[in-house]
Amino acid sequence: MTHIIAINNHKGGVAKTTTCLSLGACLAELGRSVLLIDLDPQAHLTMSLGLKPDGLHRTIGDALLGSTSLIGVSRESPVLGLDVAPANRELALIDKLLYPQRNFESRLKSQLASLPAQLYDYILLDCAPALGTLTLNALTAAQRLLIPVQAEYYAAQSLRQIIRLVQLVRRKTNPGLTYQIVVTMYDQRNRVSRLLLEQLQASLNGRLLQTIIGIDTRLKECPAFGQPITTYAPQTRAARQYRALAQEIMSCNYP
Ligand SMILES: Nc1ncnc2c1ncn2[C@@H]1O[C@H](COP(=O)(O)OP(=O)(O)O)[C@@H](O)[C@H]1O
Ligand SMILES: [Mg+2]
Repeated sequence: MTHIIAINNHKGGVAKTTTCLSLGACLAELGRSVLLIDLDPQAHLTMSLGLKPDGLHRTIGDALLGSTSLIGVSRESPVLGLDVAPANRELALIDKLLYPQRNFESRLKSQLASLPAQLYDYILLDCAPALGTLTLNALTAAQRLLIPVQAEYYAAQSLRQIIRLVQLVRRKTNPGLTYQIVVTMYDQRNRVSRLLLEQLQASLNGRLLQTIIGIDTRLKECPAFGQPITTYAPQTRAARQYRALAQEIMSCNYP
């Protein structure tokens, strides 16, 4: 079966896109076929794979509006086993176009349902830090939501918001949606970060993944080279940690 995982947090800059790309690349390295879908008009995921968003004729927006299929907008990335459905700035208009339509939340779900059954093992959805039609489509289509958080003072507040959204989506469009949380950009030299991590571990028992992604400047360099960490700097701690995350995600697969 295909595992569909949305990566979201209302907060920007918590490593959603970095986690989507790195996790996808690690799953591909492990022999899984992976599709990454860029659902953010900022198109950072698209750019981080070396594509120039403004030059694209077809993006995920066209598939959501029904003028083409998901296969029609997906393409191979430079990484073996990793495909991408790109975005560009025009995706910012989609709220206006989709909202008036019936069942607008289910557009992505229908597109995913029409893919050949064995084509992808994992489909990862990189969300924008905003609640709009794109995020609702992602949460309606996904079986699982992965929430990256930083061990910082506002983490609990942003977690409460997104968990409320999960509860809403479960009631409205996707009763089976589950969620898991991963700590990113962790700085173990910082005493406050260590304390906040302990608090997260104590309060999120069962939801918090064991793998912790530490702060690593090599991850900041990757987008400039259009590569994920697995090929840009395969021996780094960040690459090892994202590989561990991929193993952990695979070990807790459920329908
Ligand atoms: N573990 C990390 N260590 C250092 N920098 C990171 C790490 N993860 C992400 N970054 C950097 O932090 C910034 C925000 O990450 P990004 O993935 O774009 O966040 P989001 O998609 O949530 O807005 C980017 O510059 C990215 O390269
Ligand atoms: Mg992003």
